[in-house]
Amino acid sequence: MSDCIIRTIDLTKIYKIKRFLKTEKVIGLDRLNLDIRQGSIFGFLGPNGAGKTTTIKILLGLLQPTAGEVYILGKDPRDIATKARIGFLPEMTYYENYLKIDEILKYYAGLFQMDPKLTRERIDTVLDLVGLTVFRKKFLHEYSKGMLQRLGLAQALLNDPELLILDEPTSGLDPIAQMEIREIILNLAKEGKTIFLSSHLLSEVELICSHIGILKNGKLVKWGTMNDLLKINKFFEIHLIPSDNFIDRIKEFDISQIPNEETLIISTESEEVKNNIIKIAAETDSKIIGIYPRKDSLEIMFKKLMLENNNAYSD
Ligand SMILES: Nc1ncnc2c1ncn2[C@@H]1O[C@H](COP(=O)(O)OP(=O)(O)OP(=O)(O)O)[C@@H](O)[C@H]1O
Ligand SMILES: [Mg+2]
Repeated sequence: MSDCIIRTIDLTKIYKIKRFLKTEKVIGLDRLNLDIRQGSIFGFLGPNGAGKTTTIKILLGLLQPTAGEVYILGKDPRDIATKARIGFLPEMTYYENYLKIDEILKYYAGLFQMDPKLTRERIDTVLDLVGLTVFRKKFLHEYSKGMLQRLGLAQALLNDPELLILDEPTSGLDPIAQMEIREIILNLAKEGKTIFLSSHLLSEVELICSHIGILKNGKLVKWGTMNDLLKINKFFEIHLIPSDNFIDRIKEFDISQIPNEETLIISTESEEVKNNIIKIAAETDSKIIGIYPRKDSLEIMFKKLMLENNNAYSD
């Protein structure tokens, strides 16, 4: 489809490493299928060694897959014209301290062969977008880490890309700087840009991503919209002051119980168990304080998923 920005079909990467005269195979990516639509903010998650960087390298045309297909904006990622429509912010950016941001951005504009007038316009636009306009004449050694990260983002946006690939865009930043970068990312998506964001910060991903994919051992073990994925992990919490009778009567149920001073907090995923607990509470003169529908945070869902051995696709 035309609004499909990233599409991978059974994308596989097997690394071959030489060890003591023998060649060993390491699975980097195992039949990855992605379909990322225009305007979405896709959070790409997974523990260390899951295959995130391998995927990003393939999407950028830096690494050849062993098997499978990959299309960026409908084309091969190694296509030069396609590369010009992508912006990339690596996890670590490095710039010479003796340069000013104007000079750095002019240099990158040169790589895109932008003409001088367009270069001036784009530098003004991107610095405004990332909130660095007032600092443009400063040397880089005067910059904080948050400012350097914004500069990295400005550089990634210079060619007005349709797709932005961001590797840990807020790692190492303080909470205010993280929030500011998040705002910028949300605004870029509102403009219609597609964002592919690799991150270990699950609370951040939960705040901004419309879709997520979770990798484990090179395999995509969950994917879908953030809303749908978090809906799966719904449960109920019943807060009550129990009578002695009540405690005896609920022994048969497989529920989690947390005593909290004189109250008891009972959690269950089952509607039926919830209704039974309410009934028993009424029959045993226990006092119900509240019944609350809850859902797991992305962080809890991620932890549960990492403890599972099987592959559970969301659809
Ligand atoms: N050049 C390489 N040669 C051999 N094996 C590699 C190479 N690059 C990655 N791997 C292996 O492929 C698997 C996936 O690695 P990858 O770097 O893609 O993971 P990641 O999700 O980016 O991890 P992290 O969160 O630590 O950055 C790992 O088992 C890793 O050891
Ligand atoms: Mg990595």
